[in-house]
Amino acid sequence: MSIEVLKDDEALALRVADLFALAAQEASTARGRFAVALSGGETPRALYKLLARQQFSQKIPWRRTQLYWGDERCVPPDDPRSNYGMARDAFIKHVPIAAENVHRMRGEDLPEEAAHEYDAELRRLADQMRPRVEVPVFDLVLLGLGGDGHTASLFPHSEALTVEDAFCVSTTAPDGSPRLTMTAPVINAARRVWFVVSGAGKAGMVAEVIEGLRMPNAVPAQGVAPVHGSLTWFLDEAAAAELSPDARA
Ligand code: 6PG
Repeated sequence: MSIEVLKDDEALALRVADLFALAAQEASTARGRFAVALSGGETPRALYKLLARQQFSQKIPWRRTQLYWGDERCVPPDDPRSNYGMARDAFIKHVPIAAENVHRMRGEDLPEEAAHEYDAELRRLADQMRPRVEVPVFDLVLLGLGGDGHTASLFPHSEALTVEDAFCVSTTAPDGSPRLTMTAPVINAARRVWFVVSGAGKAGMVAEVIEGLRMPNAVPAQGVAPVHGSLTWFLDEAAAAELSPDARA
């Protein structure tokens, strides 16, 4: 696990955009495919907008890039709450990626059916991988952090936290809204897992996740522990404000 602290949210987005392009090139060269799971919420919007800029877009092998999502709100793609809709408007519709390379969660469908369909989609990805794998191995999984310690749509004390036999499930957010989420086995099978977190509002939870008592059922982000891959926290100064010097060292 490593931690990178950038001075502000703009520097944070620029740094992650740079490394995103490098990761895409590495995966494309080494394995002929860059499989990435995108995060939702507000924080990644700045990053996604940068990916549409020529200086980054021209470095990304879009023909070999396969876009997936770590979670989705159960709303149609044109709903302002849609994670797919946000990414589509921020970069997908501005870059030369084929529609068949964009694997969105169908938030407009019945949650159970959409989760089942996406589970099948992830199993198809696993089947395409060589050597064969049981669990799809993403080259990169992007994650955010909620104020309650949730990540993707893995909420505190939710059943989804302990699912081992499905790669995508439907769940419910604390506000009662239905969600779709990848499960821990998929997230933890990835080659790279990046938390991208900004703002003073997250500082307390960042410190709790990284340095607090291990309680992954109460603090789901603590359950993110790649089995073979690397875990990196990309933070701005405000989000890193409550970390001890040791943790930042
Ligand atoms: C979602 C996300 C969720 C998000 C956190 C942080 O669909 O909401 O995937 O896990 O990353 O809630 O959200 P913000 O970036 O908006 O603070």
